[in-house]
Amino acid sequence: MDKLLIDGGVRLEGEIRVSGAKNAALPILCAALLTPEPLVLSNVPRLNDVRTMQTLLGQMGVKAERDDGTLTIEAGHVDWPLAPYELVKTMRASILALGPLVARCGEARVSLPGGCAIGLRPVDQHVKGLLAMGAEIDLDHGYIDAKVRRLAGTRFVFDVVTVTGTENLMMAATLADGVTTLENAAREPEVVDLAECLNAMGAKVTGAGSDRIAIEGVERLHGASHAIMPDRIETGTFLVAAAAAGGDVTLTGACAATLEAVLDKLAEAGATLTVDDGSIRVARAAPLKSVSLRTAPYPAFPTDMQAQLMALMTLADDTAVITETIFENRMMHVQELKRLGADIEVESSTAIVKGVRALTGANVMATDLRASACPTFALPHAW
Ligand code: EPU
Repeated sequence: MDKLLIDGGVRLEGEIRVSGAKNAALPILCAALLTPEPLVLSNVPRLNDVRTMQTLLGQMGVKAERDDGTLTIEAGHVDWPLAPYELVKTMRASILALGPLVARCGEARVSLPGGCAIGLRPVDQHVKGLLAMGAEIDLDHGYIDAKVRRLAGTRFVFDVVTVTGTENLMMAATLADGVTTLENAAREPEVVDLAECLNAMGAKVTGAGSDRIAIEGVERLHGASHAIMPDRIETGTFLVAAAAAGGDVTLTGACAATLEAVLDKLAEAGATLTVDDGSIRVARAAPLKSVSLRTAPYPAFPTDMQAQLMALMTLADDTAVITETIFENRMMHVQELKRLGADIEVESSTAIVKGVRALTGANVMATDLRASACPTFALPHAW
């Protein structure tokens, strides 16, 4: 789909079921590389990125079969432990194959992802962690070439909190010799979901969800079944859309505990939220209040919700100050929101958003995934 046409001014009402989390599904698909036995995954979202990951695994000789929301992956043999540039450039999350491939095959050749629309996004921490576990690594013609007889457990302290870096090393450590401790680890719920899946496969991971994760390596992992957690960013995006449109929407299959920072900001902005077992209802009757925020690693406000909240703030009653601290170039949506009539000034990584009376429709550019969602639902304001 290259183009979306949105006719604004509609109050959003109804019920939506939240999909499985993209950012939990992608590492968990890679975890299937760690065992020759089948991994049966339910609640797998139907997304291009998931299909790309299936293609990537398929090129390595891994079988994947989809039956509705369930995906069965069987890495009986890994014929080619290779993630080529052509696929990695379309999906950075391909880097998640690196740790499992080195651990299972003793070698891997994975293209360096390069920068992207939201920032430079280096993978030095992934590489540094594998080096600390005894891998030999060459950077050659844009590829990471890794080799090891067997990875060795170690203590590794991340210089920066990285989600996929934590996931890559956690997966690699499951088959290492001895205990690995990862310090300053990412605490995102997707890391916890991956740890639960790995433990169901016979791994010994403790502490996921804290900044110190311990992994006792085992000889082999086995097949398992796992349900992918609900997508907290999709949940948050629908909640913001409903709040923007002054609507009344209930999300089912959601997990409120994974997006408390977002729920807090929505409540501050004037939305009424009702959390029940597995469902979240959002409604807004009162005018929107301006709320300021700063993105940071979990459990703070997620960078993946920054664009959506900024869109919401374009029509709030006062001035909101929004600071992005994770990615250096994640303000691309500002120019697009301004095309709809928003009043936003950017100083370095901070946006000062002054609420306006109304936005109007215009042609806008979809930049990164989350930024693309934000003008879409800013438009219901245009009544
Ligand atoms: N960083 C380094 N060195 C590294 C790794 C990261 O300096 O080796 C820096 C990055 O440049 C960035 C910061 O650390 O400034 C955090 O990046 P992180 O590694 O945590 O990001 P990621 O793992 O590449 C995941 C999500 C992103 C999400 C970020 C932050 C997946 C597949 N992707 O990316 O999701 O924004 O964590 O929460 O899990 C999205 O879904 O739209 C998306 C971009």
